[in-house]
Amino acid sequence: MLEPAAIDRLRENLLAAGYTLDAVADRLGEAGLAGLGRNSSLAAGRALAGADDPQATAIRLWLLQQPVPSGSLGWLDTSHLRGAGLIAGSDELRATVELKPYGSEARQGWICSDQTPLDTRVVRPRPDFVLGASPASTTLAQLVPRVRAGSALDLGTGCGIQSVHLADHAERVVATDLNPRALDLARITLGLNQVSAELRLGSLYEPVAEELFDLVVTNPPYVMSPPGGGLVYREGGFAGDGLMREVVSGVPLNPGGLLVVLGNWAVVEGRPWAERVAEWIPAGHDALVLQREALDPYEYIEIWLADAGLAGTPEYLPAYRDWLQYFDSQRISGVGMGWIFVRRSGSAQPDLRLEEWPHAVHQPVGEAVLAHFDGIEGSRWPDERVLAATWRRSDDLRQETLGAPGAADPEYIVLRQAGGLGRAVTADTALAAVVGACDGDLPLGMLVDAVAHLLEVDAAALAADVLSHLRPLIAEGLVVHSDSQETQSEGFGSAITLEGEPRRADG
Ligand SMILES: C[S@@+](CC[C@H](N)C(=O)[O-])C[C@H]1O[C@@H](n2cnc3c(N)ncnc32)[C@H](O)[C@@H]1O
Repeated sequence: MLEPAAIDRLRENLLAAGYTLDAVADRLGEAGLAGLGRNSSLAAGRALAGADDPQATAIRLWLLQQPVPSGSLGWLDTSHLRGAGLIAGSDELRATVELKPYGSEARQGWICSDQTPLDTRVVRPRPDFVLGASPASTTLAQLVPRVRAGSALDLGTGCGIQSVHLADHAERVVATDLNPRALDLARITLGLNQVSAELRLGSLYEPVAEELFDLVVTNPPYVMSPPGGGLVYREGGFAGDGLMREVVSGVPLNPGGLLVVLGNWAVVEGRPWAERVAEWIPAGHDALVLQREALDPYEYIEIWLADAGLAGTPEYLPAYRDWLQYFDSQRISGVGMGWIFVRRSGSAQPDLRLEEWPHAVHQPVGEAVLAHFDGIEGSRWPDERVLAATWRRSDDLRQETLGAPGAADPEYIVLRQAGGLGRAVTADTALAAVVGACDGDLPLGMLVDAVAHLLEVDAAALAADVLSHLRPLIAEGLVVHSDSQETQSEGFGSAITLEGEPRRADG
């Protein structure tokens, strides 16, 4: 579609025009960016105050979706862009795609995608529409631990956003999509960001048959809709949540590898959601599944009818009724939205945790999730081994005490993770004292004996009590074995959108 040399040339033009994340953010100011975050263009347009310098023209063309006089594009080599159909018109030129500044702490670049409708315009997406950096994309980008990996798979790459991040810390990235147009736009995104990934066309894991990966990352087309919806960016053509099941149950991971999925699952009448989703986890894999939100069918259908550009049209109510009938036929009484993490542990007794977790989290949570999987093994050690080992509380663990003003002792002690998933447990004085003393120096048994002595209680009884409460803390990565490294990203950073901190969106 656009040759590598033409992509390089475009990058040079964009840099020379000052069409970069920081510079555009400065130019548009807080209100302009906030407006764009709401898909409203007026505030950003006013910030340009009629200027026609290259940066202002680029903003009009690619962010505000406005026509610009061809004479104002002298700074841009338009020949290849016209040839590839990315710019159209003669006296006035329009962009046919969105080219949006995007980055991370590690890099600044652009995302090339189809245009997001602005200013409440109701637009029916073309069947092969390619989504840009959506809130779901940036949420997913923050769920992925940014630690070194040999190989990574970006399943359903769309505009290529996940691959841009993966390329920072994976030696080899494979990006797949069923939509050839997505691969065309992803190629532009990757080229503009000067990263590489092998782009492969095909469905689900077909393009990577026989291969295994250290990391698989995806927000697949998880929308559950009646057959024939035909929007490839959101619907997989499977009944109910069948596509999500295929993604999870068929994941090709190397030993120790991790799958990170953002998506939806059906809440089917008469069955707890967690029971169904647990059946998708392959043998020998641990899993952490967090249901962030549950929607009733009406809310869900309304969101996706609006997304399909049907709001306010005569087709709206008939489509709504069809969708409800479809859910009835599938016995879908609600939709869970959330995150699935699966690690190939090889364990004969895998650890499966499926929880409702609607609480605020501290993004990026990827490293906290890794710490959880790393903690599972230690949490299962026999008592003697846990007591003989030395442990360290995680750096982000905080103690909160609650009680009446002036009271000698607190009524409650809460140990709370100030980062990650924001896990919290109530603790008694003894547990808080033991966890407080876990600084990787002395074995746990010695710490328990010292606290028992101080509190004048039986050491063996205290050890039993502390162990029962400490195991979950170990499994959640709040207390870690002193030999283990605190899992930390290596400065690759996470998603930074033009509008600033990614808005909360769980899919
Ligand atoms: C929700 S979009 C996610 C895009 C991108 N990963 C992101 O984070 O923004 C889902 C992507 O999956 C692709 N897709 C749809 N069906 C697929 C299939 N069966 N196999 C692989 N990819 C598929 C769509 O074309 C689309 O690009």
